[in-house]
Amino acid sequence: MLKVSKIIATGSYLPEKVLTNFDLEKMVDTTDEWIKTRTGIEERHIASENEASSDLVVKASEEALKVAHIDAKDIDTIVIGTISPDTLFPSTGCWVGSKLGIPGIPAFDVSAACSGFLYALIVADSLIKAGTAKRVLVGGVEVLTRITDWDNRSSCVLFGDGAGVVILEESNDDSGILSSYWGADGTLGELLVQPAGGSRMPASHETVDKHLHTIQMKGNEVFKHAVKKMALSAGKALEIAGVKPEEIALFIPHQANIRIIDATIKRFGIPREKTMVTIDKIGNISSATIPISLDWAVKGGRVKKNDLILLDAFGGGFTWGSALIRWG
Ligand code: ACO
Repeated sequence: MLKVSKIIATGSYLPEKVLTNFDLEKMVDTTDEWIKTRTGIEERHIASENEASSDLVVKASEEALKVAHIDAKDIDTIVIGTISPDTLFPSTGCWVGSKLGIPGIPAFDVSAACSGFLYALIVADSLIKAGTAKRVLVGGVEVLTRITDWDNRSSCVLFGDGAGVVILEESNDDSGILSSYWGADGTLGELLVQPAGGSRMPASHETVDKHLHTIQMKGNEVFKHAVKKMALSAGKALEIAGVKPEEIALFIPHQANIRIIDATIKRFGIPREKTMVTIDKIGNISSATIPISLDWAVKGGRVKKNDLILLDAFGGGFTWGSALIRWG
């Protein structure tokens, strides 16, 4: 019989330092009013100098392990979605395994920008269904403020840092991940890209001077594709499971822009009351926004046993993904 995977615990961590829109007014030519109305963001968290992505994941994981009443050594696989790893290699997953004191188990990163957590979750779900893993630590983490162009007012107001994790376990009841859908289109890759630092454009004085190690994007274009693909992706996950939009108890979209969220739910037919919105407090943390929002929903009592929860993301690549969960 095909196995099912189920989320048994969630955890999240945001760095202590908060950067408000009013702080940004002193750094670039912008206003709190512009940022709030165009993006929905009021503040974001910034990692301290000695915090790397793995440190944020470890803090979120410690919380989730406590909730699950298990020890780190009960985890058998680590999968982390990130585009701001501690190092290009080893992976953030490997550093997390080392810091949690569980070297030896498979650990790796998935690079799918803002869809990173969904991609990691779908991979982990498949590993469990195939019998390759039994209990997986699945994370989404970014320290995006290290790859932010602080001279570009169109993008620097958007990003923040943080981590969220879930512990996914083999399950025999009828709760868990009911369906998922994912896709990618590399022909549009140049619309949202960190151009330098890879094999195409290795680091040089020139790339640093031109800020090519930072996130470059055509915001308007990204916006249009995000709305279309998030609505498509959410619809596909429901279609596969034979579930109607009105049956969803909570919709947790990637938090990139409140206008993208509103346009998506309008197309898709889900009311705002059933939509998790955290962007005002966290900004766009790429692959971390969905697991953080899920954790806040659980902590805030917005998730009950048997609820149908729909996760939905779109990001650089382009990539997109969704997962329908019956909460156990
Ligand atoms: N403050 C004040 N004015 C600004 C700012 C700012 N921070 N930024 C841009 N403007 C100005 C522009 O210069 C422009 O002025 P002009 O008309 O005089 O030329 C005007 O505001 C409008 O600019 P647009 O870029 O057209 O603004 P838009 O409404 O598209 O909002 C934004 C820009 C917020 C970036 C939006 O396009 C967006 O959210 N796009 C999607 C971003 C996204 O989802 N990225 C994916 C995630 S990132 C990842 O994967 C790592």
